[in-house]
Formats: sequence, structure tokens, C-alpha cells
Amino acid sequence: MKPEILKISQISPEQSVVCITGKDKLPDWLKLTKSEKEFALKQIQAKEEYVIINSYFKSTYIIRINEESEEFSIRESLRKTAFNLRKNIKSNNHSELVIASHEVFGGAVESFTEGLLLSFYSFDKYKSDKDEKVKKKYPSRLLLFGGPGDKDLKWLTDLTDAVYLIRDLINEPVNHLNAPAFAEEIKKIGKLGGFRVEVLNKGKIEALKMGGLLAVNKGSVDPPVFCILEWKPEKALNKNPVVLIGKGIVYDTGGLNIKTGDYMENMKGDMAGGAAVTGVMYTIAKTGIPLHVIGLIPATDNRPGGNAFTQGDIITMFNKMTVEVGNTDAEGRLILADAISYASKFKPELIIDIATLTGSAAVTFGIQAIAVMGNADRKYFDLLREVGYEVYERTAELPFWEEYGELIKSDIADLKNIGGREAGAITAGKFLENFAEYPLIHMDIAGPGLLKKDDFYRLKEGPGTGTRLLSAFLKRYASDLMVKK
Ligand code: BES
Ligand code: ZN
Ligand code: ZN
Repeated sequence: MKPEILKISQISPEQSVVCITGKDKLPDWLKLTKSEKEFALKQIQAKEEYVIINSYFKSTYIIRINEESEEFSIRESLRKTAFNLRKNIKSNNHSELVIASHEVFGGAVESFTEGLLLSFYSFDKYKSDKDEKVKKKYPSRLLLFGGPGDKDLKWLTDLTDAVYLIRDLINEPVNHLNAPAFAEEIKKIGKLGGFRVEVLNKGKIEALKMGGLLAVNKGSVDPPVFCILEWKPEKALNKNPVVLIGKGIVYDTGGLNIKTGDYMENMKGDMAGGAAVTGVMYTIAKTGIPLHVIGLIPATDNRPGGNAFTQGDIITMFNKMTVEVGNTDAEGRLILADAISYASKFKPELIIDIATLTGSAAVTFGIQAIAVMGNADRKYFDLLREVGYEVYERTAELPFWEEYGELIKSDIADLKNIGGREAGAITAGKFLENFAEYPLIHMDIAGPGLLKKDDFYRLKEGPGTGTRLLSAFLKRYASDLMVKK
């Protein structure tokens, strides 16, 4: 269970406290004995990451930050320290925990709390040993002292709620979450967050002739869905909406070009892009960001069953272009392409798609960066980069030169869905660009979006990558527009 976060204005002596300090000094309100204080000071002067003082009835956790570092890096180290402390905190079984700072910048309490909340998540709904869960618990309340203001606190609460919600979706296996079930969950999140959700069923998708989505779905016994999410506040600052598109492959076997060896690992999470879009819509609706935003999530599994699409097939896409299937495992771009051309009907100011799209992106950047590319104005890339450092979901840009587009030409159709071994992440992006009539940013989260082990508070398997980045991006974009008005 995610703890509740509350603000307090006073700390009482019997409370367990996390104290973040910028100096080799401890605040007067920290109630410790003289020898405990001496011990703690000695440790933090020796530049220990943290000191824990356990007495009979309470614990005190002291964290010293390096004020010389840049703010974004202090924030990230606090999130990581929170993760490192999670086990100690759990074993001390506090019902509540105070988080406070002393002579450091305002965001310190916020970042530590964020790291802690994200580290407390667990996917344990299928564990039958309920006892194991009750033995030791994380605090059910976090009490913030001298931390963020009300607005920032609400943002933190709603954003971390969103990450919890979508981690559950990414971690859910396909035998419990096929495409129609995914759509039902998105509807539920829409109700919780306060945004509109419409789900197009197979009949509608056929009537619209979304050839990419239908081709990928052919080997499945479950129907595809196409979800349309919309947040349209009364006083939107943008005339034309931002359209977010998320890959919703609920399982990627590779199809007839089946994934061999351990390549199928994590492929229940091949809808992490779609989940991220859902998380962003939840956050911006819940916090009332004044922007008109539409989310599109095409979803199906990719299987080799029955009448599965095959290598060599030529399919006609939603926008009437033809595509020669060079590999059934390059399915993500087929379903995204239909969504990107569908987005034209909204005359978007900007389209951003997010997808666990290519092994190539993961090989290039590992888990450290989201690969971004596209033809949209520089200002969007710059803002993404900047916000990326703040939330520490960093973006790294790949070139998008037109020569790369040559690699996906087909001799017998307009395009081919693979471009060979070279520059795989880029040719995938180039493929998508063919379907975009409006400015496009393509984000490939194949690396950081699915993890084999915890990367601090970015927990395995689905850490929820992209939600914090794109939510913060839209929030910043809205506040920049506000300043201009
Ligand atoms: N979902 C995968 C990409 C992926 C791989 C995501 C590993 C996360 C971790 C995608 O559908 C895929 O299979 N891509 C192929 C494309 C190739 C056939 C051109 C790939 O990257 O190998
Ligand atoms: Zn694939
Ligand atoms: Zn895939």
C-alpha cells in the first residue's frame, strides 16, 4: 500500500525522523542525546551517505547532501538514498515517519519522499502468503516538515499514484491482461483521474481499416482495441492538442518470427508506452494542467497462432500506404503508424509517441536514456532534455537524417517494416515519420522502460518510465505558455 503524505508544522520528540541536512550541523529540533549527536556528526563529517540512530522507541535517519553539486543531481541522489534506506525503514516497522530538512533547498524533502514512495511499491497481488506482508510494514503515513507547498505536494501525490497504477499494468501478465482487459483498466484509470476514455472495438477498427493493428492481431484469439483518451480543460492554453501515442502490445512473442532464447523476457511489458500515456493523462487531469491533450493507445498481443500475419505479407495501413512485412517482430511500428495517421484528425500541435520499440535503442543507451528523435521544433526537444534531468528520466537524441529513410524502402510496396541491422532504432523512427502529417517526436523506451533488476527506485520489471518525464514536460510547457500570455 502506498503511504499517505501529510504536511506537519511541528515534530514531537518521540517521532522517528529522516533529517536531510546540508551542513555538518544538526537542527535543534532533532531530539537526540549528546553522545548520539556526537556520533552522528562524526559520521556525516566523514561524508557517509547516511547515519541511522536507533533508540528503544524511535529511529533517526540523518542524510547529508553535497551542496556543491547541481540541484538535479542532489535531487537524484536523495531519491537513490531513499531507495537504499527502504529496507532499514521497513525493518523498523514505523507506523509513521517524519521527513524534514535543515538548511537545504526546498526540493530536498520532495525528492527524498518521491524516491521513498517509488521504492515502497511492490507487485504482490498473486502472493498467497499474506502473513509475509503483515510481518514488517512500510510506514503508512509520511509526515513532511518544511517540505513542498500544497500545490507541489498534490503534484507529487498524484504523480506517484499514477506511477503505482501503471506499474501494476506493466507487471500484470498477459493471461490476466489481454488487450480488452487493458482497455477496461484504462477506463477505470480515466474515471479515477477525471479524463474521458473511448474504446474502439474490433468492428470499429475494421471499419476504419487500421491495417497495421489488424495485421498484428491476426495471430491472436483476443480482439484488438484502440483507446482514445482525452483531457480537455475548460481554459486550455493550447488551441491545437498535444497527442500522445503509446505502444500497447500486451505481449510480444515476435509472432511467426518468434523470439528465441531469452528474448521473450519482459515482453508482457511491451505495453509500457501505452501505460505511460495512461499515467500522464491521469496526472495532468488530476492536477488540472491547462492543456488539451489526447492519448491514443492501439493494443493487441503479437502471436504466431492461426492465421497470423507472415513475413512477406503486404498490408494496407489506415492512411492507405502499403507496407511489406519484413519481420513480424517489428510489430510495434505497425500499430503506432495507424495511430499516428489517425492523430491527423485532431490537427495536433505536436505528436509524441512512446514505445518499447527496438532492441537497438536498448543496446545503444542501456537503461540510462530514452532515445528520442523526430521532426518537431527544437524547442520541444530542448524542453524534454531539460525536464529529463529534473525528473532523471533523461533523453538522448538520435539523428533523423533523411538518408536513414532509404533503408526502409521496399521494392514491392511503399515501405518495409524493417531496415536491416544498421541503425535499427532510427529506421523504426523513420518508418513512423511516414505516417505523421504533423510534427512528431518519437521516444523509444526499450532500455529504461523494462528492467531485469531494480535500478534503485526504478523498480523491475516495469518501472513506469516516461510518466514522470512527460507529465513534467506538459506541466512545464503549460507554465511557459502561461508566462507568454
Ligand atoms: N518489443 C520489441 C523491442 C524490445 C526488445 C523492447 C527488448 C524491449 C526490450 C520489438 O517489438 C521488437 O521485437 N523489435 C525488434 C525489431 C526488429 C525485428 C527489426 C528488435 O528490436 O529486435
Ligand atoms: Zn516485436
Ligand atoms: Zn514489441
